[in-house]
Order: sequence, then C-alpha cells, then structure tokens
Amino acid sequence: MSSHRQDAVRRLAAPDIAARKGKAPIVCLTAYTAPVAEILDDHCDLLLVGDSVGMVVHGLPNTVGVTLEMMILHGQAVMRGSRKAMVVVDLPFGSYEGSPETAYANAARVMKETGCGAVKVEAGPAVVDNIRYLVERGIPVMGHVGLRPQAVLVDGGFKAKGKGGEERRRIQEEARATTEAGAFAVVVEGVAEGLAREITETIEVPTIGIGASAGCDGQILVTDDMLGLFDWTPKFVRRYADLRGEITRAAAAYAEDVRARRFPGPAEIYFAKAG
Ligand code: KIV
Repeated sequence: MSSHRQDAVRRLAAPDIAARKGKAPIVCLTAYTAPVAEILDDHCDLLLVGDSVGMVVHGLPNTVGVTLEMMILHGQAVMRGSRKAMVVVDLPFGSYEGSPETAYANAARVMKETGCGAVKVEAGPAVVDNIRYLVERGIPVMGHVGLRPQAVLVDGGFKAKGKGGEERRRIQEEARATTEAGAFAVVVEGVAEGLAREITETIEVPTIGIGASAGCDGQILVTDDMLGLFDWTPKFVRRYADLRGEITRAAAAYAEDVRARRFPGPAEIYFAKAG
C-alpha cells in the first residue's frame, strides 16, 4: 500500500456530512478491508464498515452473528486504508440495544480502537434514548430506519417496508425520533418509493438511501453487490462490474497454466547470480 496514506489529511467528519443536507449528493459505499478502502477513498464521502461484513465476507446467513470484535478488526483495516472519507462503523446486534450504558461502553470501544468518525445503529423505538445518550457523550451516531437487517428474525426475512399506511407512519416517526435524538444522518433502507422522499423532506439531517429511491440526500450500496461478486443481488442494486466473472476467468486460467506447467515461467522465477 502506498506510503502517502500515512500523510496527515483532514478527514470528513459528522458535521461535514450533516452540512450536506439538500446539497450535492453524499456518496457512500461499504468497505471491510484496507486495500478496498484505499481504492474507494478517492470516490466516496463516507465509507461504512457495515455489519453486512458478516454475510459478505464471513459467509453468515444474516448479521445477527456479527461480533464487536469483528467490527473493530474491519474498522481498523478500513481506517488504515483510507485517509479522506469519513469512516462509520456499525454497532452489531446485541451491542447497543440493552441499555444506554452498554451502548456507550461498546460504542466508545469502537471509537477508541478504530479511530472511526461515528457509529451506526438500527434505530427502532427501543434505542432512541440510547442514541441520545451516545450523542450527549461525544459519540456521533448515524441512524438506520426502514428495512432493519438486524431485525431479520422478527421480520422473517429481508422485506421492503412502508408499503402500507401504518408501517409508513411508524418509519417516518422512527426517522424523526432518531434525528431528534441527535443522529447526524439517517440511512433509509428498502422502503417503498415516495416514503424516502417524504422522510428526506421532513427531517433536518441527510438521508442516505439504499433501495429507497433517488429522493435521498445520498446513496449507499454494499460494494461487493455493486461489483458483481454474487450470483444474486437485490432489485435495487446496480452492478457496475462483473467481478465474479473476472475472478472465475482468472482462477480458471491460473489452474490451466499450473496444470500445463506454464506457470511459473522465466519472468516469474529467481535465478542464481552468475559466478
Ligand atoms: O451493513 C451494511 O452494509 C449496511 C448498509 C446496507 C447500509 O447497513
């Protein structure tokens, strides 16, 4: 990795992102490793070390099994790889819902051990007080409403939200309460068209959409989804590359070369010094 990454530069921070409300769209992607963070850093305002790392990198069926230690390790890697983008680390399931004190202890540990700029929490009604507790004690918090992946076992799957009136009102209320508790931005995931726009028009901080239409202040995607690493991706993902195809072709070509003893060739081996 190039050494200029160590140079001191001012990273974007929570107030910079908050100030973008209604202005140029905020570009966000997930990152879990240092080399990918280094590539994305030049193009993104915000890198999210999402707990999607559990599914994307570790092969878990959902995000429920993700631990604080996993988030810290990946958060450290993304901080090492990036220098300009704000880095936000997800607090995993079970680390912030129980009480404000537990949320604070775990969030403070993530902030200290990674050096990230904020944590993200999935903002159901039960955690609004915990968000306020964190913000009042110096921890910037990003909220996450609509489809909440950590609620998958209650919801029975990853289903789009806000198609009916009652659920729409509940999600709007969650976004409002999250903002009032002090969140500097709110991710709006998997909601019916129109609801994201209504939330964006209602709350005072930026909305970051994923599967939530273009009516948000910014957008985020899971990087591995948009790079085409998986056979299946949700409807809202646009694939900007076919890395699965590229990796398959590369692995097949390498295997053929090894089996035919074409690799390594003269350019890829060391020779003893003459004499
Ligand atoms: O974990 C994650 O990657 C996320 C994004 C989908 C917003 O929360």
